[in-house]
Amino acid sequence: MTEQSSKDRVVVLDFGGQYSHLIVRRCRDLGVYTELLPFDVPAEDLKSERIKGIILSGSPFSIHDPDSPRCDPRILELDIPVLGICYGAQLIAYLKGGVVEAGRKSEFGRAELFFNRDSALFHGMNEGGRLNVWMSHGDVIRKLDGADIIGYTSNSPVAAFRISNIYGVQFHPEVHHTDKGDRILWNFLYRICGCERNWTIESFVRDTIDDIKHQVGDGRVVCGLSGGIDSATTAVLVNRAIGDRLTCIFVDNGLLRKGEKEEVLKTFGTDLKLRVVFVDARERFLNRLRGVKDPEDKRKVIGELFINIFEAEAKKLKADFLAQGTIYPDRIESARAGSGKASCIKSHHNVGALPEKLGLRLIEPIRDLYKDEVRRVAKELGIPQTIINRHPFPGPGLAARIIGEVTEEKLRICREASHIVEEELKRSGWYYKVWQAFAVVGDDLATGVMGDARRLGRIVTVRVVESREAMTADFVKLPYDVLEDISRRITNEVRGVTWVTYAISSKPPSTIEPC
Ligand code: XMP
Repeated sequence: MTEQSSKDRVVVLDFGGQYSHLIVRRCRDLGVYTELLPFDVPAEDLKSERIKGIILSGSPFSIHDPDSPRCDPRILELDIPVLGICYGAQLIAYLKGGVVEAGRKSEFGRAELFFNRDSALFHGMNEGGRLNVWMSHGDVIRKLDGADIIGYTSNSPVAAFRISNIYGVQFHPEVHHTDKGDRILWNFLYRICGCERNWTIESFVRDTIDDIKHQVGDGRVVCGLSGGIDSATTAVLVNRAIGDRLTCIFVDNGLLRKGEKEEVLKTFGTDLKLRVVFVDARERFLNRLRGVKDPEDKRKVIGELFINIFEAEAKKLKADFLAQGTIYPDRIESARAGSGKASCIKSHHNVGALPEKLGLRLIEPIRDLYKDEVRRVAKELGIPQTIINRHPFPGPGLAARIIGEVTEEKLRICREASHIVEEELKRSGWYYKVWQAFAVVGDDLATGVMGDARRLGRIVTVRVVESREAMTADFVKLPYDVLEDISRRITNEVRGVTWVTYAISSKPPSTIEPC
């Protein structure tokens, strides 16, 4: 059993609401280890001393839809405190024989809640019994016999209720628009569930290092380093636990960003003092990519070659374990993929098959963390800000940004132009506000003019997007003067480019990377 899995916890049952992850995040920020589980988990699985409270999330469904998600009703008999939020509250009301009316009068946005100050859920809140709360529901709980009604609004006669240690709120305490929402969750976690404060970044780091020590014993670990924050954090945690028995493998596939190899080797080898095996495989990758034009074929060639190289290096090191930087959304994504719902990010990862192929046991120290928790752990571990705040970069590297065949010339253009995009965004203060920013190059040629001479050259497309976890993305409305500086520098400084365009399509229907 790992340190995290032996912790007291609160579980959030996910009915598919847009704020389910946010509830988990808020509870963790309040200091309690919290996990998201599927809505249909059997009550037996929750019967544990470790589970101190259960939260039922919102949902896009109405309780009256024939296929609306229902939890195991025995969850309400476990004598573990429950908090239903929005749909979760309606579901409790429905299961307890209340009247939930299909929304004739929906309530969206801000509403004024009149609450009972004597209720434990609203303990310590002296707002004169009134609060601005955030509503987003179609159905309304009309009547719930046997419950204390502890809050109402002009549209919701039962906006908050209690039946013994089961609570329901029609509004969303987890969103910032609800005044004192954190206090309401705090009351539930600490006053009603009696949780202990067990989730801080410092305690996570301490427990995880102990955990790795136990798991690895006197074994050896390998870790593939990409220069990204997830693998970096994983490697440093493992290194803190077992020192030099961790070896990191860093492969230069010839598709890295400008200066990336030097930066990774300096940061991890020299500054953080990890043992790094560097493999210069540029020629092998570029030779294998010759003549390959189809995006999926390119990804396949790169993925396979990477696995072969990694495998050969790991064998030399006689490792017992492979450390991987899987994070919480990756796991949720792959679980969803397994249940037939769409997955996007995880399918891109190139090393999924590695542990089985190598007969290595897997360590995933940051598997319970969200991205910004990873950033906080990285900061705690002393990983430099340049790595922490860096934009994500795909496994297939610049090949994902080169349309058609990967040639030396297109690689040079893509690398130089991307570097200019990054530099100009940093200079203008935009870099840290956007999700990703880079340049794309393909085979089309456009006419340019230099002095009196006309000449043909490449078209570079600049792509800058904002996104939440890459599932959807919008192009960033950069000021014209920033775009102008980028365009001027690319045409002046990158040989062979005559035109610069800006990609203005969003995801969907486009993807972030062109290939
Ligand atoms: P797309 O292009 O599908 O990309 O919208 C979504 C996000 O995933 C990144 N990406 C990858 N990451 N290996 C990775 O680790 C890959 O093969 C890969 N392909 C795309 C992409 O940069 C974006 O952030």
